[in-house]
Amino acid sequence: MAADIDPIKLMKQEVGRQAAARVRSNTVIGLGTGSTTAYAIQFIGERLAAGEVTNVKGVPTSFQASVLAKRYGIPLTTLDEVDTIDLAIDGADEVDPQMNLTKGGGAAHTREKIVDGLAREFIVVVDSSKLVAQLGTTFALPVEVLPLAVAPVSKALEALGGKSDLRMGVKKDGPVITDQGNMVLDVTFGAIANPAELEKTINNIPGVLENGLFVGLATEVLVGEVKDGQVKVRSL
Ligand code: 5RP
Repeated sequence: MAADIDPIKLMKQEVGRQAAARVRSNTVIGLGTGSTTAYAIQFIGERLAAGEVTNVKGVPTSFQASVLAKRYGIPLTTLDEVDTIDLAIDGADEVDPQMNLTKGGGAAHTREKIVDGLAREFIVVVDSSKLVAQLGTTFALPVEVLPLAVAPVSKALEALGGKSDLRMGVKKDGPVITDQGNMVLDVTFGAIANPAELEKTINNIPGVLENGLFVGLATEVLVGEVKDGQVKVRSL
């Protein structure tokens, strides 16, 4: 590997390529959000263009995913039009040894959980920096909140032991607004002892739309890593 090439980018590219290689003809694919999934979307489009697979339709999890799908020639469909999603490919911000995830770094976790959760097979694509012993240790938990409920939800999360920060825009003054028109609280809990319980507890707070804990949804995790100067992909 040349010294000037970013190893994280290479890991993301390679897991994206290998996830795209799992796509079969005549299937509906959940298209995740983020920089790693972006490579998978690109490679699915290239396989379609090369005629390696045919009749593949994508269900996007965000505005970003639909823009990329259009750019790379993947026909899109919606959950109104399909009964099932054969395979979802999506990134993650943290992956624990049980393949539970934190997601929402791109503020798309609400639609991602709907699409990824409906898929028969859900492949997570990450570089090795995302593997953690316990969720919550490297990434604050994203919680999508109706704008009018930001203050009471922040207080309720504080009562659960979390410190909330309203996610702010980049090159835009004020908060990030999700594809659904809501806001995102990034909540620091530290190590999360029971992700399944916390996921339900947070979603029970009035005004919360969805949080970024994905428990028991992933069926496989593809991890890109650099070993002896070479990019390798292994499956968890
Ligand atoms: C978006 C997500 C992303 O999948 C997650 O943030 C990982 O992104 P990246 O592949 O860019 O590291 O959950 O809401």
